[in-house]
Amino acid sequence: MTTGSATAPRRAVCPGSFDPVTLGHIDIIGRASKLYDEVVVAVLVNKSKASMFSVDERMDMLTEVTAEYGNVRVDSFHGLLVHYCQANDIPVIVKGIRAVSDFDYELKMAQMNHGLTGVDTLFMPTNPEFSFLSSSLVKEVATWGGDVSRLVPPAVLERLVARLDERR
Ligand code: PNS
Repeated sequence: MTTGSATAPRRAVCPGSFDPVTLGHIDIIGRASKLYDEVVVAVLVNKSKASMFSVDERMDMLTEVTAEYGNVRVDSFHGLLVHYCQANDIPVIVKGIRAVSDFDYELKMAQMNHGLTGVDTLFMPTNPEFSFLSSSLVKEVATWGGDVSRLVPPAVLERLVARLDERR
């Protein structure tokens, strides 16, 4: 008996801390969403690293700002990324590369991840507009009153301002 021509969906994961998500992340997630049937944005739960936003808050922001793509799902994981990929049938990790300095570290992780389980990594050059951008810089600049409105989506800016107000 034939079961039609259905094939397994092509899935990829965009992993990260996303504390908070920036326009640089969204550029990569949006482009990945055009290449794969489903993109899972996976937030690392890292209890040993101080963060500005809880994992739930980060996931809420990601869900809100990726809703327009239609094939992006937000999740969290702890432990090894490759174990998460195996458990969720995800054969590809998508990583944005901002500069050669990113490549140096990312290459080692990609080789380790492939060696561990065969999960592959796709390196996607970031839009040069965002080549300097990181969540840490956004937090630092915003903390000291700098304008980050062109670096994060409006929904994230709102939460960032609120969080900094709470801390003052
Ligand atoms: O946004 P970040 O903090 O640069 O993201 C880094 C992340 C989460 C993608 C990376 O640290 C990771 O994959 N951590 C999970 C633990 C793991 O698999 N470590 C082995 C890497 S070879």
